[in-house]
Amino acid sequence: MFDDRYRKKLDHQRLTGLIRNPLTIGEKNGRFVTVNGRRILNFASNDYLGLAADPSVKQRVAEHFADLGPSSSSSRLVTGNHHAIRDAEMAFAGYFGYEDALFFPSGYQANLAVLSTLFGKGDAVFFDKHVHASSVKGITLSSASFFGYRHNDAGHLERRINAQGPGPKALVTEALFSMDGDTPDILALRTLKEKHRLLCVVDEAHSFGVLGKGGRGMARPLADVAVGTMGKAFGLFGAFVLLPKLYREYLMNFASPLIYTTSLPEAQAKSAADILGMIEGADDRRDRLTELCELFVKKARDLGLTVKGEAQILSVTVGDEQKSLALSRRLFDKGLFVFPARFPTVPLGQAILRISLTALHEKADVLRLAEEIAKSGSGC
Ligand SMILES: Cc1ncc(COP(=O)(O)O)c(C=O)c1O
Repeated sequence: MFDDRYRKKLDHQRLTGLIRNPLTIGEKNGRFVTVNGRRILNFASNDYLGLAADPSVKQRVAEHFADLGPSSSSSRLVTGNHHAIRDAEMAFAGYFGYEDALFFPSGYQANLAVLSTLFGKGDAVFFDKHVHASSVKGITLSSASFFGYRHNDAGHLERRINAQGPGPKALVTEALFSMDGDTPDILALRTLKEKHRLLCVVDEAHSFGVLGKGGRGMARPLADVAVGTMGKAFGLFGAFVLLPKLYREYLMNFASPLIYTTSLPEAQAKSAADILGMIEGADDRRDRLTELCELFVKKARDLGLTVKGEAQILSVTVGDEQKSLALSRRLFDKGLFVFPARFPTVPLGQAILRISLTALHEKADVLRLAEEIAKSGSGC
């Protein structure tokens, strides 16, 4: 009975172009990945600054693991609360300008923990409809009432707030949206925050490290709590939440996804502290990335493509799911890896090619990408 149900649902995914069947990656080498022995130019990496590919980073991380071992071997609340983790948290809090910080094994877990724990019965949580799946899951796991507002539409948000009665209210948004690559109007949201006394949680997974002075992100004027991941611009693994001390203590006591899991390895925390120094000094990488993004957008628009995105995450509008899949396969045949983002990652019928650029790319790469998309798209 179970098997039949699973088969039917998978068949439906196949028919509608929604099936997920990831390629097996052989080797990663800078801006290239190898698939079945073929070298493919990668436009789907979140290593935005190229730090994960940096030999000095690999060397330092290897030394920390050799020194401190591969595992914390305990949850945070038992013996996983190593001083290396606490020191790194304090360094992150100081750098990003928050009172304190709390590390998590992943960004997904961080959003789950923060949103399911900070909000409860009687609270109203307003969220941008394009926030990440982990935020949606976190909100729905809390016992708060929740209300989606149209993507980046502060007017719609205010109407939704006004439709609710008195009681605690919170806002959840991203600072650089993971699929659309756009940013909210932080000042408009801040005005609403002050007017309606909103508690604001901002996911800066894609903006920390890349946007703002020294990669400090976009949302400090708005956020009470900010979530960052180390799996993207930081070139590592794990996540950090920046927050007031009171909230940290509350999460330590009540956040099930934090309490009942093995904490990050100490070596990972040491690596994170090292990386923070590199993030600060990465202006040249950030400038290069900005230049590449501008070059791609200009070229793609000159070729008649509809491109969205304000930074290193860019999308080419496709619409139909099957078409986006066919398009990405054609690009793959030409040696270009571009991810076709489809429902439920993006709304149904609004499939895109999601392009992420990194400081590792060359100008010739992004020009070629725009040309090949324009050529491949015409015959789909
Ligand atoms: C906006 C956003 N938040 C959170 C996450 C989860 O981060 P992690 O990969 O560290 O679990 C992602 C990852 O894709 C993301 O795009």
